[in-house]
Amino acid sequence: MQPRPRITAIMVSSLDGAVVAGGAGSRGLSTPADRTLFRSLRRAAGVVLVGAGTARDEDYRGVRPRRPTADDPAPAPPPPVAVVTGSAALDPAASLFTDTVTAPIVLTTAGAPGVRRDALRAAGADVVVLPDLAPATLLAELGRRGLHDVLCEGGPTLLGTLVAADAVDELRLTLVPVLVGGPAGRIAAGPAAAVPPRGMRLAGHTAADDGTLLLHYLRSDESPRPPNG
Ligand SMILES: NC(=O)c1ccc[n+]([C@@H]2O[C@H](COP(=O)([O-])OP(=O)(O)OC[C@H]3O[C@@H](n4cnc5c(N)ncnc54)[C@H](OP(=O)(O)O)[C@@H]3O)[C@@H](O)[C@H]2O)c1
Repeated sequence: MQPRPRITAIMVSSLDGAVVAGGAGSRGLSTPADRTLFRSLRRAAGVVLVGAGTARDEDYRGVRPRRPTADDPAPAPPPPVAVVTGSAALDPAASLFTDTVTAPIVLTTAGAPGVRRDALRAAGADVVVLPDLAPATLLAELGRRGLHDVLCEGGPTLLGTLVAADAVDELRLTLVPVLVGGPAGRIAAGPAAAVPPRGMRLAGHTAADDGTLLLHYLRSDESPRPPNG
C-alpha cells in the first residue's frame, strides 16, 4: 500500500486568534516574513491544497514559476493548486484558471452540477469527480497522482476537516503582532472537534524584526525530519 501524502498546513493568525483582518482575508494579516515563508513552502510542495472558499475570497491564481538561474537553468514547473469544492461553484474566468502555468485540479463530487464541471474543464482545469470529499478520499487521490507533499493553505473549513480526521502532519503557524477583535474565526473550524486533541510539538521558531512569530509544529508522535522551507 502507498504511504499517504504528507500534509503541511500553513496559516496566519492575529494574537487574538483572528484569521482575517481588514476585509482582505488572510492577506490583511500577512507580513513580509510570512510571505517569504509562504513562497518557500510553495516552492517545495508537490501540490497546494485549498478550500473553495479561500480560492474564491482571495482570488487565487496559479503558483508562480521559478526564474531560471545559473544553478538551476531549467526549474521544474510550479505545483498545481488543487481546490476542494462540493459545489464546483468556481468562476471559469477567475485567475485560478486564467493566470496559471500549471493546470489547477478541482476535487469535487458527482453532486456538483455537471454544467459547472464542464465549464471548469473547458477553462483548463483537471476536474476530478470523487465519491466524497472526506480527507482519506482527497489524500488517496493526491497520492495516486504522485502528489505526496501537500501544502494545505486552508481555509478554516478545510483545515477543520483535516484536523478532525487527524490528517495534519505539520503546522506552520504565523502569529502576527496585531489584535483584531470582532467576529473573525480561528484557523480550523467545523462541527467535529479532534478527540482527543492532537498533540503537536514545537520543532522550530523564528521571530522577525517586526514581531511576527513563525512557529513550526510537528505531530508529537513523530521524530524530527529536515525542515522543508
Ligand atoms: N488566516 C489564514 O491563514 C487563512 C487561510 C486561508 C483562508 N483564510 C480565510 O478564510 C476565509 C474562508 O474560510 P472558509 O472556511 O470558507 O474556507 P475554505 O475551507 O477555503 O472553504 C470552504 C469551502 O471549501 C469547500 N470545502 C472545503 N473543505 C471541504 C470538505 N472537506 N468537503 C467539502 N467541501 C469542502 C466547500 O466549497 P463549496 O462551497 O464550493 O462546496 C466549502 O464551502 C477567507 O476569508 C480567507 O481569506 C485565512
